[in-house]
Amino acid sequence: MRTVKFGIIGCGLMGREFASAVARWCHLSEMDVKPEIVAVCDANADILTWYTENFATIRQVTSNYEELLLNDEVEAVYIAVPHNLHQTFYCAAIEAGKHLLGEKPFGIDKAANDAIMACIAAHPDVFVRCSSESPFFPAMQRIGAMIETDAFGRIIEVNSGFLHCSDMDVSKPINWKRKLAFNGEYGCMGDLGMHACHMPFRAGWLPRDVRAVLSDIVPERPDGKGGMAPCETWDNATLCCTAEDGDGHPFPMTIKTQRIAPGHKNTWYLEILGTQGSARWSSKQINTLEVMQYTGGEQAWQVIDMGHEMAFKSITGGIFEAGFSDSILQMWAAFLYELEHGNPPSRFSGCVTPEEAALSHRLFTAALTSQRCNTTEQVVV
Ligand SMILES: NC(=O)c1ccc[n+]([C@@H]2O[C@H](COP(=O)([O-])OP(=O)(O)OC[C@H]3O[C@@H](n4cnc5c(N)ncnc54)[C@H](O)[C@@H]3O)[C@@H](O)[C@H]2O)c1
Repeated sequence: MRTVKFGIIGCGLMGREFASAVARWCHLSEMDVKPEIVAVCDANADILTWYTENFATIRQVTSNYEELLLNDEVEAVYIAVPHNLHQTFYCAAIEAGKHLLGEKPFGIDKAANDAIMACIAAHPDVFVRCSSESPFFPAMQRIGAMIETDAFGRIIEVNSGFLHCSDMDVSKPINWKRKLAFNGEYGCMGDLGMHACHMPFRAGWLPRDVRAVLSDIVPERPDGKGGMAPCETWDNATLCCTAEDGDGHPFPMTIKTQRIAPGHKNTWYLEILGTQGSARWSSKQINTLEVMQYTGGEQAWQVIDMGHEMAFKSITGGIFEAGFSDSILQMWAAFLYELEHGNPPSRFSGCVTPEEAALSHRLFTAALTSQRCNTTEQVVV
């Protein structure tokens, strides 16, 4: 079993999820490569104690990302920092020759993403992927297999989205994800959009144009110091796209990302309607996939309990349902598998490529123009 020594830069919410996946690597029964955390970096020293208390392999603890990137022992890095730092940190990591799993949106805006893409092009020996765990739920894997076998026929419509309700509470103090300087003009699209784009993009359903309706529902929030602060980022985005399938047939595709979606704590969903088959799934009923095959006659939806049908085999019994931390573990298996073997084992078991992340930037940038000018904007695919 080969070991890849990792550094984590940005050890907040998502840094901890990666570390926990590393601790649970024995769950994956057929991997021939494993990660080991040897270095951690965060501007907030307090949160690093959890790492050093739980991971005896950590030999470097620093608040300076450049120091971590100078560490020869570190072969790969996971970077999970606010969006305003993506360009600087990702480019520095790539230039230092470290393989990178970088968090979405992969640059605070299109200019930052362009710079990251140029850096990747200049360093072809460095393996770079963007984080998004959405395809790694069993139902998404099954939908991926249906796409591979052309089970949908001609696509009639696709609806994909990611919905939160955590910002329904207007008394919730503002954090960096609601501030323009840290999260960027994309707002909820930058925050949630890559998850909703991952499956459609991988399926080859590419948006040719977009008409966006963006909503700023809560204009200010408590600043946590007794006053109020402007809440400058878009809360909700509905993108109505003309997409095209591989044969050039157009169809409507909606991509919804919402921070203020009543009743939705953390809901991924995907619905595909086709002439021969349809499927729909929402993480609200995580174990339930609905499918309909149409061969003439009655149209009847079937309900399938998915169990633990994973891209990367795990020790969990096949009947047991999966959860968020399972999909994170699977995404990390995908990153390491592709780093080691050069390709993912199948089309829907790979992490977001830099090209897919770049397409999401072209879509979100066109969506901003669409909102500003009240127009339908072309998206260059
Ligand atoms: N894949 C997912 O499901 C998912 C979920 C949430 C967030 N994210 C993404 O992960 C990234 C981080 O989000 P998060 O929720 O973990 O945020 P977070 O605020 O919990 O963590 C970010 C960390 O970066 C640290 N940091 C800030 N400036 C730094 C600097 N100069 N040097 C070193 N460390 C610094 C902060 O101290 C903090 O601990 C974002 O890109 C976000 O979009 C992904």
